[in-house]
Amino acid sequence: MLLSLCLATAPALGLAPSLPPQQGAVASSQPDATAVGAAILEQGGNAIDAAIAVHFALAVTYPYAGNLGGGGFFLVHDADGQDWFLDFRETAPAAATPDLYLREDGSLDAQSAQRGWKAAGVPGAVPGMWMAHQKWGKLPWRQLVMPAYSLAKQGFRLDAHEIRRLRMVQDILAEEPLASTIFLDADGQVWPIGTLMRQPQLAETLLRIAEEGEAPLREGKLVEDLVAASRAGGGILAAEDFREYRAQLRPVMRLLWRGRTILAASPPSSGGVFLGQALSSLQGFPLALWGWNHPRSVQVLGEATARAFHDRNRWLGDPASMEVTVDSLLDPGYLASRRRGMSSQIYTPPSRLGEAPTPGHESAQTTHFSVTDEHGAAVSCTTTLNGLFGAKVMAPGGFFLNNEMDDFAAQPGQANQYDLVQSAANAVIAGRRPLSSMCPVIVLDEEGQVDAVIGSPGGPTILTTVLQVLLNRFVYGMSPERAVSAPRFHRQDLPPHVQFEPNRLSSALRSQLGQWGQPIERRNVIGDVNAIFRLRNGDMKAVADPRSHGAALVIPRAGSEVLAD
Ligand code: DON
Repeated sequence: MLLSLCLATAPALGLAPSLPPQQGAVASSQPDATAVGAAILEQGGNAIDAAIAVHFALAVTYPYAGNLGGGGFFLVHDADGQDWFLDFRETAPAAATPDLYLREDGSLDAQSAQRGWKAAGVPGAVPGMWMAHQKWGKLPWRQLVMPAYSLAKQGFRLDAHEIRRLRMVQDILAEEPLASTIFLDADGQVWPIGTLMRQPQLAETLLRIAEEGEAPLREGKLVEDLVAASRAGGGILAAEDFREYRAQLRPVMRLLWRGRTILAASPPSSGGVFLGQALSSLQGFPLALWGWNHPRSVQVLGEATARAFHDRNRWLGDPASMEVTVDSLLDPGYLASRRRGMSSQIYTPPSRLGEAPTPGHESAQTTHFSVTDEHGAAVSCTTTLNGLFGAKVMAPGGFFLNNEMDDFAAQPGQANQYDLVQSAANAVIAGRRPLSSMCPVIVLDEEGQVDAVIGSPGGPTILTTVLQVLLNRFVYGMSPERAVSAPRFHRQDLPPHVQFEPNRLSSALRSQLGQWGQPIERRNVIGDVNAIFRLRNGDMKAVADPRSHGAALVIPRAGSEVLAD
């Protein structure tokens, strides 16, 4: 079956829908946060209200990635059919310089970009949520923040999953003085199952945010304490960074694909360009005919994603740093030239993709949530501290700081040696945002109705995860549950392997790929998708990835009983 793809990057008005009311739905990686979102919908909030409330709730109940001290991407399809991309990603502090993470001898001090105060970018989460509310919110701001306050103040109950997660990070928490008093008992052990875990400092911060909006993260005591802690810890955050931070509305990318429109994020997200390029490369390959598990499908998908990663790493960064336009990367003539030599039976080694540096290692903690409401609006939001607990330093206000600075090309000198443009496009520059793999998408059907809301954590595997869920649902015709749960694989440009989850590639399939020259590697979990899909009968189906322990809820029309999936 032919995949037809055309691309337009102008921010666009969608169809003004005269559509029947839809069900509201929420999917996130943490059940209390999902319940908060559902409650806001039931109170008459719109999808944006619910998403803001989920974001704050995750900062309490999913502290590995949920955050006040990080940033992310908030993609909106509103009830009037308009589409928006709100970028609340962190920026490099004003004092940042391209050699920030280099030692005196010019070698890279990778650790300093990943752990400790120096690794932290200026957080965008609170200004971002504030801007979302100013622009699209319906319920009062306070009503959206207070559920998170209650979860922090009164505590939330630690279940077996939470305990397991906390045990995995016990050593990190033990080293952080404030965090250890919150997350661990007096003996430095994780609290037992059933404990009501309270976070008083965070509750205090949330109360101030509920009452004063974004102001506490702009100036005043909290910012002063934070800047002092940063200085004491060798960081470079300054009061003006918080005052000057701006969340940004950016162009929504609209990828026309198989009669649908995929709404995706433009740079500093690599999501829209990646999906546009990968889907274009797959044009003309009969994926549906071959089937989901056919060696040719796997091989050609790897070829497509390796090419798209090559361009991502070479060309993309903060839009202000980029030397090429998004349009030029999606130009049909250029895309045709990228497809040349692509075969479903021949492995292309990285050397033939061009010389691009290996993307930095991105660890497994970010989170995505999806929300729809009964008026046809949707929010697809991916938010992150980057690494597990970000820089692993806790602000005096009781929340972790990101280590998003590690998403920059931290060693411009070395990057230049392999690829000058990449280095310039994603160098550490004061005020700029690091390139991101976060890829929230919303899919609209021909009538402009929301057909799917999809996203995932996983560093570079976010891109291949979202692509595979799209293909699973819309090419292979899988059910929502299967589209999300089906085992996944990942290939970027370097390293050259196809990495696969257990059960994804049979030994016969692996041996076929091996014969075609494709290096293969087994790995564990890829991604954690929280998604919403429209079913044929018009009902919405929310799905939380079985790889994690999130929750998905659908609210039937007219606010009757909430259905858990
Ligand atoms: O923005 C990015 O691309 C990374 N900071 C995302 C990191 C991530 O997804 C970690 N994973 N689970």
